[in-house]
Amino acid sequence: MNAKASDPTNETSPNAFTGYGDFNQLNPLFARPGEATDFPLDQIPAGESLPETAYQIVHDESMLDGNARLNLATFVGTWMDDHAIKLYMESADKNMIDKDEYPQTAAIETRCWKMIARLWNAPDAENSIGTSTIGSSEACMLGGLALKRRWQLARRAAGKSTDKPNLVLSSAVQVCWEKFCNYWDVEARFVPISLEHKVLDGHDLEQYVDENTIGVVAIMGVTYTGMYEPVAEIAAALDRIQDKTGLDVKIHVDGASGGMIAPFLHTDLEWDFRVDRVVSISTSAHKYGLVYPGLGWVVWRTVGDLPEDLVFEVSYLGGTMPTFALNFSRPGAQVLLQYYLFLRLGWDGYRRVQQASHDVALYLSGEIAAISAFELWNDGSDIPVFAWQLKEGYTDKWNLYHLSERLRLKGWLIPAYPMPDDISDLVVQRIVVRNGFSRNLAESLVIDIKEAVEYLDRLETPIPAEGQVTSFTH
Ligand SMILES: Cc1ncc(COP(=O)(O)O)c(C=O)c1O
Repeated sequence: MNAKASDPTNETSPNAFTGYGDFNQLNPLFARPGEATDFPLDQIPAGESLPETAYQIVHDESMLDGNARLNLATFVGTWMDDHAIKLYMESADKNMIDKDEYPQTAAIETRCWKMIARLWNAPDAENSIGTSTIGSSEACMLGGLALKRRWQLARRAAGKSTDKPNLVLSSAVQVCWEKFCNYWDVEARFVPISLEHKVLDGHDLEQYVDENTIGVVAIMGVTYTGMYEPVAEIAAALDRIQDKTGLDVKIHVDGASGGMIAPFLHTDLEWDFRVDRVVSISTSAHKYGLVYPGLGWVVWRTVGDLPEDLVFEVSYLGGTMPTFALNFSRPGAQVLLQYYLFLRLGWDGYRRVQQASHDVALYLSGEIAAISAFELWNDGSDIPVFAWQLKEGYTDKWNLYHLSERLRLKGWLIPAYPMPDDISDLVVQRIVVRNGFSRNLAESLVIDIKEAVEYLDRLETPIPAEGQVTSFTH
């Protein structure tokens, strides 16, 4: 007989959970219905289960996700202190769009982007405009939309066509920019990175820019490698183009990671609103802004750089408040977490946290450079992120995908992936050092990498490469 069908405590049967009352509570936790029997995985169960049981099942399944702190693939924050966690719990119910219901969270959001505008050297923070977003992707979309609308308005005013907008960016941009171009019908003009030009640096820019260019994206912390693109050099190339053609093309800086590193560690580097052509900057607060996932920021140099017709009004304290967002509802708690961190750390606290990650990145890249199998692509001296490749001709027995797999056995997630077009034959491996990845852990990682390389070097025949795919996307 089918054991499940005959089991009166089977939660998946239509008659489950009626009338058991205290009986369920008396059962030991892992012998209760739901724990001892299967929940359907893709169908809402017919009846209720005890909160302890449901909690335990979800908790246990999420255990299989792996240890976020050992995930050196992600840029996204995986550690916050106990006070932040307390605040998070207290404010988990706040909806960012309900400015009227949560006016103080709205006021704090405004304070935060003004602090960030100042951090990014806006010439007059009181006359800039910004907003929180769900992350950099949304922030980049808003920056891109403002560039597009601004270009459309100027073209229409001049009686010119707005049929073929294009955006100029590096071939190593994050996928959110490909999405932007796809979703909003903008031609993406990718400038390929190469061994000579590891980042978009303004070379040959005149071949890509024309009267239909809505803007150029400069990345502070390229996702593939962590390198900064030289915003001032890109701006200088655009100055030369303007001198020759009269075209005045503006820059959006995608500072997803670097937007919260450069202001603390590279204060002399002019990449932000100090560069006149930069009209907007975005960042992921949930990366080096040190907040848990779900927050980004975008700031425009002046109110005039965000076309008015993109802005909607929501009710606020009996009146209205302007908003520019793709989402309507989204969590407000992260904004409070950002404010908490600004107060808790201050500028110097941020500097020390970022410096600690930086020191660990430089230590790690130094150790990896010293292993004869490897060659660094960069050393982590921009954002604390670096990539390396296998030395040409070093071995025909294994590659970086195999090393990545070996390290997984120890719990480390360190992705290997091909570089973008033009140099896609080149495979690199990358480490993102984040707050919480201590020197101690880094030393353990170095031991594990050395052991893995020694193991792979001992192989007598090559590991078959059939079916090998990268499981990593940017
Ligand atoms: C340069 C860059 N831009 C944009 C993004 C997208 O950020 P988010 O994950 O916050 O949407 C990333 C994410 O890695 C990034 O590295």
